[in-house]
Amino acid sequence: MPSVLILGAASDMAIAIAKKYASENYQVLLAARNVNRLDALQADMNIRSNAQCSLHEFDATDFQSHASFWNSLPVKPSITICVFGYLGDQEKAMTDWNESEKIIQANYTGAVSILNIAAQYYISQQSGTIVGISSVAGERGRQSNYIYGSAKAGFTAYLAGLRNRLFHSGVHVVSVQPGFVNTQMTAHLKLPPLLTAEPKEVADAVYSAVVKKKNTIYVKWFWRWIMLIIKMVPEFIFKKMKM
Ligand SMILES: NC(=O)c1ccc[n+]([C@@H]2O[C@H](COP(=O)([O-])OP(=O)(O)OC[C@H]3O[C@@H](n4cnc5c(N)ncnc54)[C@H](OP(=O)(O)O)[C@@H]3O)[C@@H](O)[C@H]2O)c1
Repeated sequence: MPSVLILGAASDMAIAIAKKYASENYQVLLAARNVNRLDALQADMNIRSNAQCSLHEFDATDFQSHASFWNSLPVKPSITICVFGYLGDQEKAMTDWNESEKIIQANYTGAVSILNIAAQYYISQQSGTIVGISSVAGERGRQSNYIYGSAKAGFTAYLAGLRNRLFHSGVHVVSVQPGFVNTQMTAHLKLPPLLTAEPKEVADAVYSAVVKKKNTIYVKWFWRWIMLIIKMVPEFIFKKMKM
């Protein structure tokens, strides 16, 4: 049975991805902080899809634990999906280093730490897939979220470099740029419905991208063009805008 590891498994997006893979008869390894809160999800998945779902304690910022976390997995997953992230409070982060650091570590450093380990394993196997959920926020810095955006920009560049390196070992890397998604992370924001995806759409897009070996996907196709336009605005105009 093929297996998938989902890092940051308590998120709405991750739960939808887990259910999608369970429905496709994957063994699903759910990794999250305080993972016991996913007991009900685990039981539900085991009953409904016979998915052999297991729970694993994982903190993206506990870097020293990552090697032992990986070594302790009951099976080595054929797919590793990095979903965790932290939007944080940009206003606070501008003056509070602890908040900045939390954003950087949850969106960039933590991902690099665990995916470096996954990558070495996949190179040794000459097969495997890594998926990273990044963000269009990383495509151009804006005053309203440039700390989160810069961490995601770093993550996007990391995934691109990793894809380039791992290609030569038969390992594939998918970068996911979801656009707005209706989750706990954005529950306090008024998102434009037409531009906003549901977690299930992300899950279907991730599954399909892995099967088709896509490099970078935008969950709703038009986000690629929205971001292209945003990136084309000349800096002397862009810096005067309040975005
Ligand atoms: N929602 C959007 O519009 C949107 C758009 C683009 C990209 N994204 C990205 O999509 C991914 C999933 O986000 P979501 O929208 O589903 O939000 P979410 O429900 O807030 O999920 C984020 C998850 O990340 C986990 N996490 C944060 N710090 C962690 C750490 N140090 N160790 C382990 N887990 C940690 C959280 O765990 P706890 O439950 O333990 O806090 C939470 O389950 C994130 O990477 C996010 O940046 C979201």
